[in-house]
Amino acid sequence: MLIARTVAELRQHLSPFKKPAFVPTMGNLHEGHLSLMRMAKQLGDISVASIFVNRLQFLPGEDFASYPRTFDSDCDKLRSVGCDLLFAPDEAELYPQVQSFKLLPDPALADILEGQFRPGFFTGVCTVVLKLFHCVFAHSGGVAVFGQKDFQQLLILRRMMTQLAMPVDIVTGATTRAPDGLALSSRNGYLSADERAEAVQLSMALNQLAQSVRAAGGSGSFDVAAAETAAMSGLRDRGWQPDYITLRRQSDLSPVTAIGTDPLVVLGAARLGKTRLIDNLEV
Ligand code: PAF
Repeated sequence: MLIARTVAELRQHLSPFKKPAFVPTMGNLHEGHLSLMRMAKQLGDISVASIFVNRLQFLPGEDFASYPRTFDSDCDKLRSVGCDLLFAPDEAELYPQVQSFKLLPDPALADILEGQFRPGFFTGVCTVVLKLFHCVFAHSGGVAVFGQKDFQQLLILRRMMTQLAMPVDIVTGATTRAPDGLALSSRNGYLSADERAEAVQLSMALNQLAQSVRAAGGSGSFDVAAAETAAMSGLRDRGWQPDYITLRRQSDLSPVTAIGTDPLVVLGAARLGKTRLIDNLEV
């Protein structure tokens, strides 16, 4: 695996290739990232990962400084799945000037759910993804692989590709889960042993809500707001602080008042101790 520390090195390594397949990450890699990397291997003529902890997507008081940086073991993991090229710039390389030009995503998608609780988060994500794409896809279009776990991020980035006419196909990898059902996340490492045992309750709450939606079918009698409130209270009773548990349309994340035929998704974010976890399930 080649490692490029600068944009110039990255572009030089990529110049012979026509279709890079790219997995952007913030490092501290787990099986979820590796499954995206394995997909990338099948999708392009060179597989590329990036590791960059993007300051722009952390709010003041969030975990930017303490976010786990595990470069050497990340490299071992990437090598084990055959990653061809790693782009690992430092901040001075990717943001040589204060990044004052930023990409403002559609507020209808970016100011709700995660964006409501983490204002500016998606501006930070879109800005770095746009910049990383300019670095990786300088000579060609290509493919980028993102995990379904960040459902809202995926939707916003797809819209960004379309609206900015970017020649990058976004491919989705299913959420990778631990045997008990907890969605894998770099932030799971913050959980104590007791919290780790409890953490699966978030996906269980989403599952239960999804099942009751399926059971209601198109009967028209399902009270969405009451079901969302009950799911949040259930978690609160177990000591969680939920930000939201909600049923939305997959296409635009708009709220659902009556169950029809539109594809739906249940999304949740909740804090357990100091750790904020997110998850989602398509219905
Ligand atoms: O999903 C992530 O890990 C990050 O938001 C991303 C896409 C790598 C941008 O920093």
